[in-house]
Amino acid sequence: MDKVPFLRYIGVMKQSKLLLEWYKNFGRDLPWRVKGGAHPDPYVILVSEFMLQQTTVKTVIPYFARFMRRFPTLQDLAAADIEDVYLFWQGLGYYTRAKSLHATAQMIMERGSFPQDRKGVLKLKGIGNYTASSFLALAFNLPETVIDGNVIRVICRLYNLTSPIDEIMPIIQDKATALTDKENPADYASAIMDLGAMICTPKNPQCLLCPWKSFCKSKDLPHLESIPQKSKPEKKAKNAFVYLIINSNGELFIRKRSEKGLLSGLYEFPWSETPPEFAQGAKDTGLEVSHIFTHIKLNLKIQALYLDDVQTDGFFAKPDDFKNYPFSTLMSKVYKAYARPERGDK
Ligand code: ADE
Repeated sequence: MDKVPFLRYIGVMKQSKLLLEWYKNFGRDLPWRVKGGAHPDPYVILVSEFMLQQTTVKTVIPYFARFMRRFPTLQDLAAADIEDVYLFWQGLGYYTRAKSLHATAQMIMERGSFPQDRKGVLKLKGIGNYTASSFLALAFNLPETVIDGNVIRVICRLYNLTSPIDEIMPIIQDKATALTDKENPADYASAIMDLGAMICTPKNPQCLLCPWKSFCKSKDLPHLESIPQKSKPEKKAKNAFVYLIINSNGELFIRKRSEKGLLSGLYEFPWSETPPEFAQGAKDTGLEVSHIFTHIKLNLKIQALYLDDVQTDGFFAKPDDFKNYPFSTLMSKVYKAYARPERGDK
C-alpha cells in the first residue's frame, strides 16, 4: 500500500472508531438490538428488519412487541395461519411484507437453518439487497454495509453530495462501504443509523454533538438541511367510491381481497372507480379518506347504502367482530371516518 491510501485508511479507521465510541455511550436501546456484536437470535433481526423496511422505528416498536409475543420463534411464525400474521401486521401497511416474512420463515424452517451469506439470504422472500446487508450485519456481524434513509443523509452531508440521490447511489454506496468498520459491522450499522436518526437529522442537525464533525464537508454550509436532494416521483392520484352497505341488523358488508396483488388477503368494504350495479341508491356521506401506497394516492369517497341482499361476493359482519378480520390501514380509516366522522381524515 503506498503512503496516501495507507494514511487514508488510518483516517477512516479512526473515523469509524469515533462513531463506535459515540454509539457505545449514546446509541439507542431498541427492542431488537444488542450492543457489542451480533444479535444472538437471527429471528429477532429478521422480523425487525422486515418491519423497518418502510416504517419508522417509532411506529415499529409497539408492533414488534405484539408480534414477538404472538410469534416468539421462527417455528411459531412458520406454523401460523397467514390470516393470523395479517392480524398482527394490521396497521403497519405494505402487507406484502407480512406475506413474504411468513413465507421466508417457512423457507428457513425447510432448509433447517438461517442462511449466512448474501446468495442464500437473497433466495428468501421479500429480501432485497438492502435488507440482506442489514440482516447479515446485525444477525451475524458480517462485514456488510447498511444503507437506509438515515445513512444516505449522513454520507451525503459528510461529503457534501448535493445531486439527487437516485443519480448518485453508487457513489453513496462506495463511500458508505469504505467507512464501514469491518471488525464491528453490527455495531457500526446500528451506529450510523443512529447518527442519522439522532444527530444528523433532516432539520436542525446537532452538529456540535456529532462525533464526525471534524470530517464533515457540509456542516457549515447554508444548504446543509437540503442535503440529501430527494428525487421524489409524483404520486398519481386515483379517485374511487367505497360502499358501506348496512343491513337491517346493523351489520356491514365486507369482502376478502384475492391472495394476489395489492393488500392481498385482507378484508375491505367494496370499492370501485365506477359505481357498480348493486350501488344504485347509495348516498354520498360527504366523507373522504385517502392513503398513499407505493405508487399512488388513493382517495375514497364514502357512500352509504341500506341493503339486506348484495349481488356481489362478500358477507355481512358485526362491527364488534371486525377485530377478527384483518383490514388494511385504508379500510380502517374508512370505518373510523364513518363511525366517528368528526375524526375523519379529510
Ligand atoms: N432501519 C432499518 N433497520 C434498522 C435498525 N435495525 N435500527 C434502526 N433503524 C433501522
